[in-house]
Amino acid sequence: MPPSDVADPGLAGQGGRRTAYAERSMPVLARLRDRFGRERPLDGLVVAACMHVTTETAVLVRTLTAGGAQVHLAASNPLSTQDDVAAALAEDAGVVVHARHGVDRAGYDRHLHAVLDARPELVLDDGCDLVSRLHGRPELLGGVRAACEQTATGVLRLRHLAAHDALRLPVVAVNDTPVQLLVANRHGTGQSTLDAVMRATNVLLAGATVVVAGYGWCGSGVADRARGLGAQVVVTEVDPGRALEAVLDGHRVLPMARAAPLGEVFLTMTGDRDVLTAEHFAVMKDGAVLANAGHFDVEIDVRALAAQALEVRRVRPQVDEHVLPDGRRLLLVSEGRLANLAVAEGHPAAVMDMSFAVQALSLEWLVGQRLPSGVHAVPPGIDREVAATRLAATGVDLDVLTAGQERYLSTWRG
Ligand code: NAI
Repeated sequence: MPPSDVADPGLAGQGGRRTAYAERSMPVLARLRDRFGRERPLDGLVVAACMHVTTETAVLVRTLTAGGAQVHLAASNPLSTQDDVAAALAEDAGVVVHARHGVDRAGYDRHLHAVLDARPELVLDDGCDLVSRLHGRPELLGGVRAACEQTATGVLRLRHLAAHDALRLPVVAVNDTPVQLLVANRHGTGQSTLDAVMRATNVLLAGATVVVAGYGWCGSGVADRARGLGAQVVVTEVDPGRALEAVLDGHRVLPMARAAPLGEVFLTMTGDRDVLTAEHFAVMKDGAVLANAGHFDVEIDVRALAAQALEVRRVRPQVDEHVLPDGRRLLLVSEGRLANLAVAEGHPAAVMDMSFAVQALSLEWLVGQRLPSGVHAVPPGIDREVAATRLAATGVDLDVLTAGQERYLSTWRG
């Protein structure tokens, strides 16, 4: 196995303790790890993973190695890497880590290629950066059985590849399972994005106008929680159905050009680009906070903001104050990158328990399949298994259909 590339191996103890703490909230993966340890469904398989290097990812990686996999891990975002976790994982047998917090773009790219150099048979991706680089190395593609994609932006990129007949391997869209959309995108992003903004800026949300761009799974979760904290929420949307949902949920919907002068806090999570641009910065209030929770750092036009500013100064960790020529100050959180992962800790471990259980079970399922190239759905049984295991582990009981009810629900005869 090649050596790991981590910032400080001396942090391994701390990373191990924090991972053990996260594990306490991850009973579904704990059960899977026990079973994987007995059954070894991934025995000898090389897995290349591009994921946020967090304590929860460490629990997933250890589940996969318990199942017999050799895991080569790179970060899916330089700012989300927790160096202590990277160091702890690098000590594990069967794991090679290429991840350092804050690495530049060239280093990020080098790390992704380093995990591909391991000649993976299975790929775990979060944002499609690894799969897209894999397509630039056709000599490796033949050896890859399949991949799993974690997030909405990654699935969208894969669907574009498939539509152009350019996707060269089967990929399972883990993002699209009901468990993932509801638990991770709505509840996970909903909570952790606000956590990040509060930690970064210490802003009081009660009474503030919070502008949420994009009312999808993530945006609706964030908007709901912002209102719960006393904020007045303004939603911006491009999709009439989603905008209607926001209106019926009681939010005000406006185009960004009209929302820009109103907001004290702006949160983007559209999966799109140029959502906040120079024309919006020009009319924002002094002290407005700008943060992004969409996958890529293209939702806020960070370059235009920097170009407009006379001065940029770091006023708190991860908060850059942009002083504009007219004296207004706009506060950019975590350079416009995924705020909930860069500032806070990403989703709570309880959320990632379910999300990563879907990943691990999808990988196990893929080992027995021969799927054509394309974007595939997670088999519905996996979603149900994860939901049922989580409920059982947390002591929630539910009703069971009687035989009569089953018959009634499965026939057209009254
Ligand atoms: P989604 O597809 O459910 O929602 C996106 C919404 O944004 C859609 O309703 C769409 O109509 C809207 N939209 C697109 N362009 C827009 C624009 N220019 N202005 C206003 N609205 C616009 O996707 P989901 O699941 O909510 O994910 C959104 C983004 O967040 C993606 O990039 C995804 O990868 C990322 N994500 C981030 C997470 C995190 O931990 N920060 C977790 C899960 C997803």
